[in-house]
Formats: sequence, C-alpha cells, structure tokens
Amino acid sequence: MSNPSVLVLGNLLDEAAEILKVSASFLEHPRENAVAEAKLIELLDKKDAVISEPLDHFTENILDSCPDLKVIANRAVGFDNIDLEQASARGILVTNTPGVLDAATADLAMALMLAVTRRIVEADRYVREGKWQGFRSDLMLGPDLFGKTIGVIGMGRIGRAFAQRAQAFGMKVIYCRFSARDAKDDQLKEHLEAERVDLEALLKESDFISLHCPYSADTHHLIGATELSMMKPQAVLVNTARGRVIDETALVKHLEDRKIFGAGLDVFENEPTLPDKLKKLDNVVLTPHIGSACFDTRKRMTMLAVESIKAAFQGKQPIHLLNPEAWDKFKQKTACPNPNPNQSR
Ligand code: GLV
Repeated sequence: MSNPSVLVLGNLLDEAAEILKVSASFLEHPRENAVAEAKLIELLDKKDAVISEPLDHFTENILDSCPDLKVIANRAVGFDNIDLEQASARGILVTNTPGVLDAATADLAMALMLAVTRRIVEADRYVREGKWQGFRSDLMLGPDLFGKTIGVIGMGRIGRAFAQRAQAFGMKVIYCRFSARDAKDDQLKEHLEAERVDLEALLKESDFISLHCPYSADTHHLIGATELSMMKPQAVLVNTARGRVIDETALVKHLEDRKIFGAGLDVFENEPTLPDKLKKLDNVVLTPHIGSACFDTRKRMTMLAVESIKAAFQGKQPIHLLNPEAWDKFKQKTACPNPNPNQSR
C-alpha cells in the first residue's frame, strides 16, 4: 500500500518525526488529557495507524468506528488500554515498548519507597512552612530499609530491576510471580538471593511491597482488604504497575486507619481522578503516572513505536507485536509483500 497515514497522540520527538516522515504521513495531536471518544474517532478517520499512550482507550466501539485502522503502537509497556482480542479479530496489529523502561520505572518505585519511608514530601513541607525548630531525636521517624524484607509482586524485567536496587540497599528480596517455576527462579536465587514465595507468605513476611505485575482480569484487585490485612503494621506499599491491581477504596480505608505505615502510588484506579480521601492522607506519596518519565527512556519508547509502524507497513512483523494472530488478516488488508515475516528490520 502507499505510505500510511498515522495519528500521533501526544508529541512526537523531532528525531522520531524525521524517521516517520520518510515512510508515512502523520498528524500530531498534542494534548494534556485523554481525547474524548467522539474526537478520537474523528481524528482516526482515514488513519492507518496510531501512536497511543496509556490514557487512550481503544474499546470495541472505537475499533468498530475506525475501519481504516491497522496498527496501534502503544507508547508504553502496559497495554490494558487496548482491547487486544477485538483488535486481533479485526486484523489490527498492537505493539508495545518493553525492555527500554525497566530501569526508569524501577527507579521511580525506589524513589516512592524512599519518599514514603523517609517522609520526604512531609518533611519538605514542614521545612518550607517554617515549622522546623532544630534537630530532635523523635522528628520524622520512619522504618529502616537496611536488613528488611522487600516483597516484589511480579518478577518481569521491571520487577527484577527493582529487586536489584533493593538488594543494593541491603534488603532481603522475596517475590511471587504467576508463571510456573522455571530456570528464572534459579537465576534469581543465584544472583539476588531472592526467594520465591506465594502471595500470602509475601504479604505476611514483607516490610515493603512493590507491585510490578501487568494488569489483567487475573490481577484485578489482587490487593484488596483481605490482602491488606495480612500486611505488617509498618509495611509500605508501592505501586508503579497499574492502579486497578489494588482495590483503592480498601487501601484508602487501611491508610486512614493507619494499619500500614504508608503507600507510594504512581498509578490509580480511575486516573487521573483520585479519591479526595486519598489526597488528604499524609502517609501517602502520589505521583502522576511518571514511571518511565526520563528523557532517554521516553525517546527509546517513541522510537520503538515508530519502528513498529515502519516495520508493519514494510510487511515485516514488528519486534514487539502483541498479537501475532492478527498478522495474516493485517497482511490481507494491506496486501504487503512479505519477504520474511520474522524479521523486523
Ligand atoms: C506505562 O505505564 C507503561 O506501561 O509503559
């Protein structure tokens, strides 16, 4: 087919634009908020591909309303904003950006853990408000990290990057993952002295807990009232994964009742809307879904999205294709020559 027409939701970096413009025409749609469904449908009119972000929801209705759409390149590793099954049924390829944001996201999880534990935001406010009267042995105490147990839920690339950082802080790592035991567990034991345990043991034994699992029907409200009640009274919970992994109402209640020490949250159930009660709490640190918000990381994510689109319309399977089952239908729709489907460049 001729050069595809691409909608870019959010800004495209100059470098990525240079690459994209060689093989595609594109429309950039900078925005601060999610685009309303009707507007998104209008923007997608006659577009062959879209570069999207986690706040863009590709529902069955949107997919039905955009018959020309053939590729969704999501600038994120998570893809719970896209109805993958419905996309596949229509021959729409969906890609993501794994492997380039592990360190950045793990860094933010550490930053949140430290911020909650050492009460950084509260302390900063205290100093600025002129409340500080000098050194006091009982001022702003929080739990120690050194020698404590960190429980990592979800041991993919980001979980592992986080575990490495925690180990460097002198913490004992335990983790749970949802796939069958395999060589990866042996490697984690060998390199990080990390012990695999089940969720209940992790909740009961950990002083700190960090979530690094993807969101799916299986992980919906993985941490609810029952799980929270198993945590230690001084536990700190960190979430840089997806908001819906935690039952937010139960968490707010637990934090209000001071049943754990605190929480560091970068993601929320209905982001960007947060419960007022959560915003009022002083035992939480809240950030606006910025896990991968580092200059180089975001550049790499954008480049991957652009490369995915380029590859697809050159008839090559993108390296981070999430639904290879859509490939044959996609090929029929685009009638691409297909020299070698397994090679992306
Ligand atoms: C961001 O949340 C991502 O999934 O990359």
